[in-house]
Amino acid sequence: MAATASLLRQNSAAAPPSPPSNITSVKKLSESPNLNSIPSNYAYYTNYPTETNIASNSDDSIPTIDLSLLTSDNPDQRSKAIQDLDKACQEWGFFMVVNHGIPETLMKAMLDVTNEFFNLPEEEKPEFQPKNVVDPVRYGTSFNTAKEKIFCWRDFLKLFVHPQFHCPDKPESLRELLPEYCERTREVVRKLVKGISESLGLEESEMGKALDLGSTLQIFIANLYPRCPNPDVALGMPPHSDHGLFTLLIENGVGGLQIQHKGRWVNVNALPNSILVNTGDHLEIFSNGKYKSVMHRAVVNNKKTRISIAMANGPSPDTVVSPASQLVQTKGSVASYVPMKYKDYLLSQQSNQLNGKSILKQVQIQDY
Ligand code: OGA
Ligand code: NI
Repeated sequence: MAATASLLRQNSAAAPPSPPSNITSVKKLSESPNLNSIPSNYAYYTNYPTETNIASNSDDSIPTIDLSLLTSDNPDQRSKAIQDLDKACQEWGFFMVVNHGIPETLMKAMLDVTNEFFNLPEEEKPEFQPKNVVDPVRYGTSFNTAKEKIFCWRDFLKLFVHPQFHCPDKPESLRELLPEYCERTREVVRKLVKGISESLGLEESEMGKALDLGSTLQIFIANLYPRCPNPDVALGMPPHSDHGLFTLLIENGVGGLQIQHKGRWVNVNALPNSILVNTGDHLEIFSNGKYKSVMHRAVVNNKKTRISIAMANGPSPDTVVSPASQLVQTKGSVASYVPMKYKDYLLSQQSNQLNGKSILKQVQIQDY
């Protein structure tokens, strides 16, 4: 048994109550004949549209980061790219990465093989809804049905892929392709982290050292959002922030991700071949609140099945994360977050309902 997984397992001894036994995948539900409306326990919104549900389309202003400039040998280009990254993280907590070096063919193949996974017969998939919320291989529906009364219109496969690599046996091409995709996305994150370390005024390598990123916890999350007969009422994923540092997301050309910006929901229309990046709670904590994690959600539609692949990248599981010491040593600055071990934070998030920034609030020191 891999060390990370077993440690996480021990910690989750206080297992959540069993999920309702009648819960099924939304894939299966959506394929039921004559499904004209969703069951009531998928109705997230009853009075849609409310003010906060209205999405604007001003996404041409969503920042874009050219990764090739961030690693440029030309110091002026690099420092301009670092400034852009700093601005994107402060103002949006979200950006699209272009020139990231991951082959388009690999991204496409990953989406295809993810589709293949969801299409496997149930008996060839891992156990449905395992009780342990931090099992290194988890296939399930919604987010945490043991705690939810209203379910998300979403099925998922979650795999811990680093520091130990876990993957189901089928489909075979998932096993073949996933290691490379994981390595390539970690390389993108390494470059972002170096840029952020500098934009925080630290040495380039400082953030990687402080968070022990050589043993970064990387989680592969494949999401399936089938066509939904009531897209105005259901949600693929409710508003939340991600737990890690950066989540790298790709999708199958069907949009659905919305980010919160200045109190409004903004539709994300991905540039071709770009990677969508969410900033997570641990970037907020490490930067002592300079870079707030972005709230986002996934909406569904009644036309096309959407697939997304989110790669979550965080500190090493055993790192006790607190704001960077250099940021709180200066006179007059105080730490705004209490230290917490990353795997404890993760466990807390995964054992509860997905609910905005509720877990971050537990480590946040309130201003009086
Ligand atoms: C996630 C997530 C959004 C999407 O997996 O954490 O926010 O668009 N996904 O699939
Ligand atoms: Ni998310």
